[in-house]
Amino acid sequence: MPRDVSSDTKTPRSPQYSLGYSNATHRWMSLRSPAIHGAFFLPHLSPGMRLLDCGCGPGSITLGLASAVAPGEVVGIDIEPIQIERASALAQEQGVTNVQFEVAPINPLPFPDASFDAVFVHAVMYHLPNPLDALRECVRVLKPGGVIGVRDTDYSVWFLEPATPVLDAFRDLSLRVAAFNGASPTYARQQRSLLVQAGCTTTSSAASCISRGSADEIAASVQAHITRLQSPAFYPVAIEQGWATETSLAQMADELRAWGVRADAFEAIMWRESVGWTSIEH
Ligand SMILES: C[S@@+](CC[C@H](N)C(=O)[O-])C[C@H]1O[C@@H](n2cnc3c(N)ncnc32)[C@H](O)[C@@H]1O
Repeated sequence: MPRDVSSDTKTPRSPQYSLGYSNATHRWMSLRSPAIHGAFFLPHLSPGMRLLDCGCGPGSITLGLASAVAPGEVVGIDIEPIQIERASALAQEQGVTNVQFEVAPINPLPFPDASFDAVFVHAVMYHLPNPLDALRECVRVLKPGGVIGVRDTDYSVWFLEPATPVLDAFRDLSLRVAAFNGASPTYARQQRSLLVQAGCTTTSSAASCISRGSADEIAASVQAHITRLQSPAFYPVAIEQGWATETSLAQMADELRAWGVRADAFEAIMWRESVGWTSIEH
């Protein structure tokens, strides 16, 4: 079980979006589809609904949601202009006309109360320092009887097996640095109760898991972990905060490489997805 990072008392940095906006990140993120990543939410959508996608990224999921609610209007917002450019270009390329994208933060949202039938938030809350505040904002813009769908990784269940003390230390340090940088890596454990606190009167919730258990998947995972460990958002933070040394970080990278060529390496991370409804008297 990863260590609890929620009680770290050192002053956190201002929130920063850790994945960045490189072409490589854009390539894998735009492979996301409504059929897989939005599957839990699609049954709750119907033609004519007005839908908001918060933190829409490159828009590949948004466009599928737009087809589910057509001729209803879809608005995708993202804090990063380049994501909005990419999403708008994709909509144009695919000839989707019931969607518009705009640069905006999730909190505060630039929309009046009760202006959407549905709100979707995929892989965004994890990156925020206070997911509950953002959820309250999403619920605020829902009409009475509206529906919200939220999906995120829950890093309180993340294992690299066969475990070793150094691999465990790497995993715990990753969560600690993420929290320090303004993310909420284990918030999704409370996803259902946060939706209730945000104002939903009915909720449902489920968990699933992504796993890596082949040589190619493990090799890609090792590369991603080492790139992150050596990144400016990780390496200097771990050293400056006294959580690691150059030697212990080099040991972690070596251990990851050694793990990556084992025939029995296996990794799994939990995902949580929840749906909430506001009361019809909302
Ligand atoms: C991991 S991506 C997910 C994108 C998309 N929802 C998907 O799953 O493909 C997270 C997105 O949230 C955006 N984001 C991060 N913080 C935000 C904020 N405070 N307000 C709005 N968008 C934000 C980022 O710019 C990024 O595009």
